[in-house]
Amino acid sequence: MPTRVPSQCPVHLNAQERILQGSFYTPTKYVRLVGEWLREHGLTRDCVILDPSCGYGAFFDLATQFPENRFIGNDIDEEAVSQVASHFPKVVTFRKNALAGVSRKMYDISTEETLVVVGNPPYNDTTSQYQGKLKQTTKPLMDADVKSRDLGLSSLLAYTKLRADYVAILHPLAYLIKRANFQAAKPFFANYRLLHHVVFSSQEFAGTSKAAGFPVIVGFYERHLDHGLGYDDVRQMTFMTAEGKSFSLGQFRYVSEFIRKYPSRSNAPTGILFYTLRDINALRRSRTFLDKPTANALQVAPEQLPYYCYIDCFKDYLDEVPYYLGNFDIPIDLEQFATCQDAVVAVSQWKHPEVFGPRKHPSAKAFQTVKKLILSTISRKANGTNETSATWFVGGD
Ligand SMILES: C[S@@+](CC[C@H](N)C(=O)[O-])C[C@H]1O[C@@H](n2cnc3c(N)ncnc32)[C@H](O)[C@@H]1O
Repeated sequence: MPTRVPSQCPVHLNAQERILQGSFYTPTKYVRLVGEWLREHGLTRDCVILDPSCGYGAFFDLATQFPENRFIGNDIDEEAVSQVASHFPKVVTFRKNALAGVSRKMYDISTEETLVVVGNPPYNDTTSQYQGKLKQTTKPLMDADVKSRDLGLSSLLAYTKLRADYVAILHPLAYLIKRANFQAAKPFFANYRLLHHVVFSSQEFAGTSKAAGFPVIVGFYERHLDHGLGYDDVRQMTFMTAEGKSFSLGQFRYVSEFIRKYPSRSNAPTGILFYTLRDINALRRSRTFLDKPTANALQVAPEQLPYYCYIDCFKDYLDEVPYYLGNFDIPIDLEQFATCQDAVVAVSQWKHPEVFGPRKHPSAKAFQTVKKLILSTISRKANGTNETSATWFVGGD
């Protein structure tokens, strides 16, 4: 039994070190949820429960619930491993790089044992430029078949390589819903099905920035060799949040279907310029129309101008967009948009005299029309027909 509950924050690391190691520990309520899923699937005995990047051992709360399982904890961080060893004496600990020489053998797990990987692999908000800079300096050694540009995606590949029978982990929702990430972790997703999940905000992690939350999913995956998830499955999936909301990629049309998102590599941009487009969270931090060329500037094709104006107006209402849509492209209601394009263009051009020159102030009706277009797109779709009124456990840990 632990002598006291270890901190939910790695107190031995400063803010920069936490980002470098992706050290944000799991809130207890999500560990308990994983415990419920293990129970539901009869994984309460004769299993090996491995957390390959265990931090202070948040998941070893499960060791007290399921004493008939074998528990193994590993972390690259020496202090974290020693915390686990002292708080959870029944947990066998290792201090290894979980991404190099990946095999069951490295943790003394046999091929016959039922292996459940739990945890919260290291990851950071990859869209942050600050964090991006930090990460460049700290690429750990990795096996060629788990190599990727992101420690968390590599961790998924490592679980695949371990042939984990179940994987109950937290990871950014962006791993599933962004096609490039999904592709990078395809060996994992192609062999695992998502049985249960809940989406919550990264702001629930102790010690994270309060400014920009991104959606995290706690998911319970089961191995189905070659019969896992395809990207179309993800598009159709209805995701549930901790607050009882539901949403789906397939619920929206997106502006990105009609415009260029990135600068052309071949031609320097001229004319009307717009900042590179990523997702809703990136739009929170980025500019829209630009009065000078920059490395991130793309050229606006004249016939696509109304769509860029729509994005520019959409940016004014980002406070209304729930965190769980943060990694979505910018949604658009095409039918409504077709009826009020002129208002959208007028409002946006008036906001940017540095780009379009001085414009007549649009009418109050034009502003109202734009507001209604955007708010109804956000709210109607986010609170669609699948909405549940049940709130999934309110309250603290
Ligand atoms: C997000 S924390 C999660 C800790 C714990 N699993 C939890 O849920 O609270 C990620 C952990 O991964 C560890 N880590 C980072 N890179 C690693 C690597 N290459 N091998 C093993 N552990 C690593 C960090 O030291 C950190 O403790």
